[in-house]
Parts: sequence; structure tokens; C-alpha cells
Amino acid sequence: MYIPSYKEEPFEWYKSMRERRIVRDGNTVHLFKYNDIVSVLSNYNVFSSQFRDLLGDSIKSELDNRAAPSILILDPPRHTELRSLVSSAFTPKKIESYSNYIRELASKMIENALSKRRFDVVSEISYPLPVTVISNMLGVPESDLKKFKMWSDALATSLGRGPDIKTQSEMSQYFLKMIDRNSNRDDLISRLSRVSIENKMLTDQEITGFSILLLVAGNETTTNLITNVIITLSEHPDIYEMLVNDNKIAGDIVEETLRFRSPVQSTRRYAKSDIKMNNFDIYKNDFVFLYLGSANRDEEIFKNPDVFDPFRENKRHLAFGNGIHFCLGAPLARLEARIVLEEFSKRIKSFTVERPLPDDRIDSDIMYGYRKAIVNIKKINE
Ligand code: HEM
Repeated sequence: MYIPSYKEEPFEWYKSMRERRIVRDGNTVHLFKYNDIVSVLSNYNVFSSQFRDLLGDSIKSELDNRAAPSILILDPPRHTELRSLVSSAFTPKKIESYSNYIRELASKMIENALSKRRFDVVSEISYPLPVTVISNMLGVPESDLKKFKMWSDALATSLGRGPDIKTQSEMSQYFLKMIDRNSNRDDLISRLSRVSIENKMLTDQEITGFSILLLVAGNETTTNLITNVIITLSEHPDIYEMLVNDNKIAGDIVEETLRFRSPVQSTRRYAKSDIKMNNFDIYKNDFVFLYLGSANRDEEIFKNPDVFDPFRENKRHLAFGNGIHFCLGAPLARLEARIVLEEFSKRIKSFTVERPLPDDRIDSDIMYGYRKAIVNIKKINE
């Protein structure tokens, strides 16, 4: 079956695939409709994220020795236990408390970029912001930021292509040294090393594994969200003008970009037993590909789905997934993108993006984003 890389626009392909609804290709089943995808994501007893179970015992134990499996690839009951431990250190309230810091950082990056009239939004803002924020949250000192960014890049490049064992073990060593069970510091690693539920605490491997997951799952995704917002607004100068006049709509713009150009276009499960979906047979051990980006353009759910409309009522997109694995970092990603947009529109009256050529699109089978987006700007009061 032809599956486009997200270097190409997938939306016409999705539309034709939604008409076919469910498509089998060998032992992989592809789902495109919103309701089908929600029903798979809700049925974690049949549709598993625990892909390690498909591996032989020896490979599995070798992997387990290297790093504890992260919540993203665990099913209940272990997923439930681990998720409640990590979420007690990563609460929306705690994340909100970073908003002044994020605003300062975003303002500094935007001011710095503004000294030029033409700059690359990715390298000046959308790339450095999320990695700097998460490093600060984890308690990584400024002096290690460069090394940290390098690791984070290496992990992002490996996404969807199997684990980058070398980088993961370098990072694990680094994080292991940071764990101090007796410290009362307020960084995330220190908080993770203190949390306990019913006397259960996270092991050192679980703390390092979770910290690495935050980098893998959180950085490139948020970078793409911020870039996708800017590119989409360059195509809708009327909406940008409304934002300049009233930056309270920044949150709506971010939310609609998540639906319209979802940074994560697909996710995967495998079937633990035979099951019928709308008379379609899915067999034990089939892989199931779920196209979140297609669900978000499903005409049965969203009116005029190909229109970018920040004011639409239905905001129940699946850009952050659904169910028990719903993105833990969603409040952080939303906060960062909203603050960037508020600070950007405070200073920039109008802008254009130099044609984002297809070559500038990330070549990925999961992510939708751009490596580069050169903007030409006109400042406020010019
Ligand atoms: C726009 C940015 C982001 C998008 C589009 C996004 C998307 C997603 C999606 C679709 C899932 C569910 C995957 C599945 O069910 O298979 C997920 C899970 C997750 N995300 Fe995000 N994410 C973003 C940002 C972040 C950030 C900033 C963090 C943390 C710093 C983060 C941490 C996580 C974690 C820990 C999970 C696993 C949750 C679980 O398995 O219970 N994400 N994300």
C-alpha cells in the first residue's frame, strides 16, 4: 500500500482513505475515521501499546536491562501505576507555574530575532524554546545545555526508526548522577525521586527513562506545533490581524492548528486478540496504524474540516491522542505555543513566510513539521 511520508501533504490521501474507512495491508490495518480511532484508543485491553511483548524473551530482557520501559509503551496495570506517579510530579498547576519563565525566554528569543528583518522561526524560536524549557524543568544547568540539545536532536532523529541506544545510555548516565533522594530541590528530577503512592517510589531507571521520554515526546512535537502555527497564520493574514488586535485569541489559534496541522499525524497499537470492527476482521498480532491527522479532518465530525477556523465550536481534536495515553505534556505544549504567539503578535504587525518548499518539510512517517521557515516581518509602529 502507498503511504506518503509527511514530506508531502497527506490530506487528499486521507480523504480518499476515509471513504474506504479501514484498509488492510498484510498484517497491518490502517484506520482513518475519528470514531474508529477513538474506539481503538479506548479499548486498551485488546489494542496494546506494549510492543515489547512481541519480541523474544532474550531481546526483551536485554532491553529491560538497559532502560525501564516508558509509560508510552506500557499497558495497564503497570501503565496506571507509573502514570499516576509521574503525573503527581508533572501536574498542570506545576506547569502553569513556569509561565513567567517561558514568557521571559520567548520574549528574549523574539527580541533577538527582531534585530534582523528576516529570520528563521525554527532556529530562532520554535526549536530552542521547548528544549531550553524542559532542560530547566529537569534541573539541567545552563552550562550543559549545549550537550543536552545535541542528545535531544539525536533522539528526535531516531524517532520512528528504533531506539538510539548510544544516546539513551549517555543520557541515562547523566540523569542517574542527578538523582539525589535526599535533596529538597524543586526541579522535576528531584520531585520524581521523592514521589510515592502507597509506599511505591520510582526506581532510578524509571526516573531516567521518564526524563528521556519527555525529551523524545516533547521537544520536536512542540517545535513543530510552534512552526505550524506561524506558517498557518502566514496563510491567513486576516486572522493574524485579529490576533494583533486581541491576543486573547492566541489559545484558539493554537488549538485549531493542532487540529489542522497536527504535529503527530499517526500512532500505533497491536491487537492482542481477534476482534471485529464494523464487520472488518482484525487478527491477533495485527499492527494497527491510527491516523490522528485524518481523524482531525473527518467531515463527519468537523464541519468544513479543510478550513482553518480558530473559532469553530468543536475543539475535540485527537492531536494529543485519547484515553489512557493522552499526552501528559499537552498543558506544557499549549502554554509554550500560546505564549510565543502572544509575544510574537505584540511586536510584529505583519509577516510573510518565504515559500516553505517541500524540501523544508521533515521527512518522517509520524511528524508533520518544517526544518526551516524564513519569515520577513514588519514591526508594530513601523
Ligand atoms: C504539540 C506537542 C505535542 C503533541 C502533538 C503530542 C502528542 C502526543 C500524542 C499523540 C500522544 C499519545 C500517543 C499514543 O497514544 O500512542 C502523546 C503522549 C505523550 N506525550 Fe505528548 N505531545 C506533545 C508534547 C508533549 C510534551 C511537551 C511532553 C512533555 C514534556 C509530552 C509528553 C508525553 C508523554 C509522557 C506521553 C505518554 C503518555 C502516556 O503514555 O500515558 N508531549 N503525546
